[in-house]
Amino acid sequence: MSELTRFGVSIDSELVKKFDQLITKIGYKNRSEAIRDLIRERLVQEEWQEEKETVGIISLVYNHEVRELTDTLTDIQHRYYNLIISSTHIHLDKHNCLEVVVVRGKSGLLKKIAEQLISTRGVKHGKLAMTTTGKEIK
Ligand code: NI
Repeated sequence: MSELTRFGVSIDSELVKKFDQLITKIGYKNRSEAIRDLIRERLVQEEWQEEKETVGIISLVYNHEVRELTDTLTDIQHRYYNLIISSTHIHLDKHNCLEVVVVRGKSGLLKKIAEQLISTRGVKHGKLAMTTTGKEIK
């Protein structure tokens, strides 16, 4: 592990109060831990922009009875089969399905797949969460 650096930060008291309440709720033991995670998260976002290897989790909730919806979602996934690592389908109830698609590649492409899936007519809720290995992609 690299050595630790201490630095002082001036922040508006109200803002710190809210921040402390939030991190207590989340379960952080102290501010340093929470701030380190925030910095790491921001750095991860930067790396996506630098087109490092990115892994995305796309979640979709939809009603499988909507005409052609299931076919359309499958067609889109077959178009990008080389980027899809895994997909899981869960029948939530009589009508609703949850589909989780794990993708790996350049962040721009992953966003494109997610947008196509999420914008398909009949998808009630969709979300893309991304993380990175930090590895360069050629
Ligand atoms: Ni289902």
